[in-house]
Amino acid sequence: MLKQELEKALNEQLKWELYSGYLYLAMSAYFEDQGLEGFAHWMKAQTAEEYMHAMKFYKYIFERDGRVILEEIPAPPYTWDSPEAVFEHAYKHEQEVTDRINKLMSLAKKHEDYATENFLQWFVEEQVEEEASFKAILNKLKLIKGDPQALFYLDNELAQRPLDLNLLMTQV
Ligand code: FEO
Repeated sequence: MLKQELEKALNEQLKWELYSGYLYLAMSAYFEDQGLEGFAHWMKAQTAEEYMHAMKFYKYIFERDGRVILEEIPAPPYTWDSPEAVFEHAYKHEQEVTDRINKLMSLAKKHEDYATENFLQWFVEEQVEEEASFKAILNKLKLIKGDPQALFYLDNELAQRPLDLNLLMTQV
C-alpha cells in the first residue's frame, strides 16, 4: 500500500501530465490558427502521449491500492509570439516535468518504496527523450529565424509524426 505522502505526490503528478496534454493542445490550436498544420499535428500527437503518461499514474495508483483524486487543471495560455516562442515554452515545461519526476523519485527513496522507484524509472528515461525531442525542434527553429520557406519544410516534416491514439488504451 502507498504511503499517504507518496499517494498525494503521485496524484499531483497525474494532474501535471494532464496539464502537459492541455498545454500542448493549446499549442496545437495556436499552430492551427497560424496555418501550420504539421506543427499542430505534432502537438496533437504530444497531447496523446501526455494523456498516456497520466494514465500510467492512474493505473499505478490503483494497482498499489491507492486512491485517484483528480484536482483542478489550470488553463494554459492560448497565444505565443512565434513558433520558436512556443517551443521555448514547451522545452522549459519539459525541464520542469523532469524536475518533478526527480523529486518524486527522491520521495519514493525516502519511503523505501522500491515498487514506486521501479515505476518511476520509466519516466526518468522518458524525460530524457522528451527534452531531447523538444530541444531538437527548438534548435531548428533558431536556425530558421522565421524564414517562411524553411518553416514550410519543417511543417511538412512535423506532419509525419505518427499519432497513435491506441497509446491511451494500453494504459487502462
Ligand atoms: Fe509527460 Fe512530456 O512529460
